[in-house]
Parts: sequence; C-alpha cells; structure tokens
Amino acid sequence: MTTGCEFKPGLEGIPAAQSSISFVDGKNGILEYRGIPIQELAEKSSFLEVAYLLIWGELPTYQELEDFKNDILYHRRIKYRIRDMMKCFPETGHPMDSLQTSAAALGLFYSRRALDDPEYIRHAVVRLLAKIPTMVAAANSMRKGNDPVQPNDSLDYAANFLYMMTERRPYDLQAKIFDICLMLHAEHTINASTFSAMVTASTLTDPYAVIASAVGTLAGPLHGGANEEVLLMLEEIGSVENVRGYVETCVANKQKIMGFGHRVYKVKDPRAVILQRLAEELFELEGEDPYYKIALELEKIVEEKYGHKGIFANVDFYSGLVYRKLGIPSDLFTPLFAIARVAGWLAHWKEQLGVNRIFRPTQVYTGVHNQIYIPVEKRS
Ligand code: COA
Repeated sequence: MTTGCEFKPGLEGIPAAQSSISFVDGKNGILEYRGIPIQELAEKSSFLEVAYLLIWGELPTYQELEDFKNDILYHRRIKYRIRDMMKCFPETGHPMDSLQTSAAALGLFYSRRALDDPEYIRHAVVRLLAKIPTMVAAANSMRKGNDPVQPNDSLDYAANFLYMMTERRPYDLQAKIFDICLMLHAEHTINASTFSAMVTASTLTDPYAVIASAVGTLAGPLHGGANEEVLLMLEEIGSVENVRGYVETCVANKQKIMGFGHRVYKVKDPRAVILQRLAEELFELEGEDPYYKIALELEKIVEEKYGHKGIFANVDFYSGLVYRKLGIPSDLFTPLFAIARVAGWLAHWKEQLGVNRIFRPTQVYTGVHNQIYIPVEKRS
C-alpha cells in the first residue's frame, strides 16, 4: 500500500513547521533572527538579548533585559547533588555525553511540569540558559581532577564562561568575541537538533528532556563537530605550500573538505565572514594562529576549484581557530555550539507549545505481508 506522498530522504525540502524565529536565504547569504540581519545583531546586540529576542519574539526593553540577565546570573550555580552526580562520570567520556546526561538530570531536580504557566516557561528558560554553561565548564574541570570553578557574579554571561573554563578573567575583547560567537550559533531554522527538540516538545514532555534530546542530536559528526575536524585538517596539511596538493588529492578522491559546503548556503556563510573578522581581531591581540595562513590559502584554492558548485567556507571553518585562541579544548567546541543553540531550541520549544500537534509522520512500507510463523526448531 502506498501513501500517495513522495518519499524524500532526510525530509529535504519538506516544511516541518511554520516558524517566525529565523530565516535563511542561501543564495544571497542572508541569516535573520526575527527579521534582524545577523550582522546587525553581531555588531550591536549581546547573546542574552538575542536569546530573549528569539524566545519571546521581540527585543526586550531595558528593564526586561536587566531582569532577564539578573535572573540568569542568580541561577548559574548548579546543585551540589548535580555536581556529585557529574563527579561519577568517566573522565574519558565525551563532553557532549556528559552534557546530555546532566541536561536530562535537571528534569529530576526540577520535576514540576506546567507547560501552560508562563512563569514555569520563564523559569525553565532561565534555568537552562543559566546552568548549561556551568555544567559544561564543571565537567571540564572535573575530568581533569579539579573542583569546578564557581560562577563569578561580577562577570557577564560570556566572560563568566571563559572564566570558569580558564580560571582567569578574560580581556574585554576575548569576552566580546565569545559573546558574538554565541550569537552566531544561537539559531539556524530547522536543522536536525532543532527538529529533534520540536519532536520531543510535541509530546508535551518537560523542557529538560527537550534540550537533552537536542544535545544528543547535535553530538553526531554530521551536525556539530566539523570545526574540530577543520583544525585536524589544518594540522595535517602542515604548511601553506602543501595546500594545493591537499586540495587536488581531495578532488581526485572525491573527498569532502571540512568547513566547506552547506545544504542551504551557496555563497560564503555570513557567519564565516564575521568569524574570520573576529579571528583576525583576536590575532591582533594575542598573535596569529600558526594555521591561519594555511586556512587563508585553503579557502582561496577551494573557491578556485569548487566555487562554481556553490561550495564556500561555512560557519565551522574559522570558529575552531577562534575557540582555540580563547583557550578552549577542541572536544568542547560542540558543547559550545550547544550552549549557544539552547536559545534557538528553547525558542522552537515555546513556538511548538503554542501550536502543538504531536509529530507523527507516515512511512512508505517496503516490507512483506502475510508471512507464516515458523517455530524456532524448524528454522534453518
Ligand atoms: N568539499 C568538497 N566537495 C563538497 C563539499 C566539501 N566540503 N561539500 C559538498 N561537496 C560536493 C559533493 O561532493 C557533491 O558533489 P557532486 O555533486 O559532484 O557529487 C556536491 O558538492 C553536493 O554535496 P552534498 O554532500 O550532497 O551536499 P549536502 O547539501 O548534502 O551537504 C554538507 C552539505 C555540509 C554536509 C557538506 O557540504 C559537507 O559534508 N561539508 C563538510 C563538512 C562540514 O563542513 N560540515 C559543517 C556544515 S555547517
């Protein structure tokens, strides 16, 4: 029996929702959050303001933003019992698995569920935005055998995270650059992890389960994680002179080059443009990354070879270089993505609750019918 619908692997091009949260125009390199171009936000806004914009649909007033920031500051700490639980995680485990487990565990500690109560929604938003960075930094300290660094109330969201990671106050420029990285990764329409969040949300489960399922989806190498691979690739190339040979080998072997290409963008990803500028600002302060010249040469040669196919640098090409300069270990690049994307996931959670209908797609059955059951002793 057929359903009469055409099957599209990966649901490519099939609208899964109506959404007013973000917009991507891949031909013209446009990304907007609630209609505001990403460049404008990166220049003038802050991550928490962007999170508010995404989740509540409009920019906050001065007082609304102050209240939101103060609420988040107040809720940054994690309970001792959560820390005790995290101490039992194996230090060899991946930080994304640790994050998924601890995000889900928040549901044990905050078990009241009242999805029709705006105060409950607000508290869940605040708790998740406040505690996820603390959990990522705490897991990083504990896997090294150290006590977690407590949040520092004199530092804002981005600066506090860098402080918890490195145990030193970042310079203003470092904190500002990290805050912009968070804005750039906060939302990107309906990608795999956002869809996962929406499907989980549609069952009316608690928001901690929604975020935990999105974190699990982001952890896969086809979604988060390409920026870690970019650094490995630059290391493998080793010198500017080797770049052309490396690209030619990739072309000959039809091997993908990490940090290039995008399902939607057919020009340079607007976030890569901003991240490259940020990398250069950081290098002016701290000295150039030894791999930056290789990256520039690689971008030039990939454009030469693949530009006609619409393959250009994506968001992951320069972000690893920025994070490494900020002192972040490479296996935390995907958790950083998650810290930022919590804002987008929560925006889609809230939007889904407003129009909810449980996701229940159909399938095209390709199996057999009316088979005879053969007892186990008669099977060969
Ligand atoms: N290097 C070389 N060729 C690439 C490429 C890359 N990074 N990305 C895509 N292509 C080529 C494919 O080989 C394919 O060529 P063909 O038409 O001759 O077979 C064509 O472009 C389409 O690629 P496809 O993988 O079908 O596109 P997609 O939209 O399904 O995939 C990505 C998009 C992001 C998964 C893909 O570009 C990729 O794997 N990039 C590298 C990983 C990466 O940076 N991921 C982070 C994304 S933000």
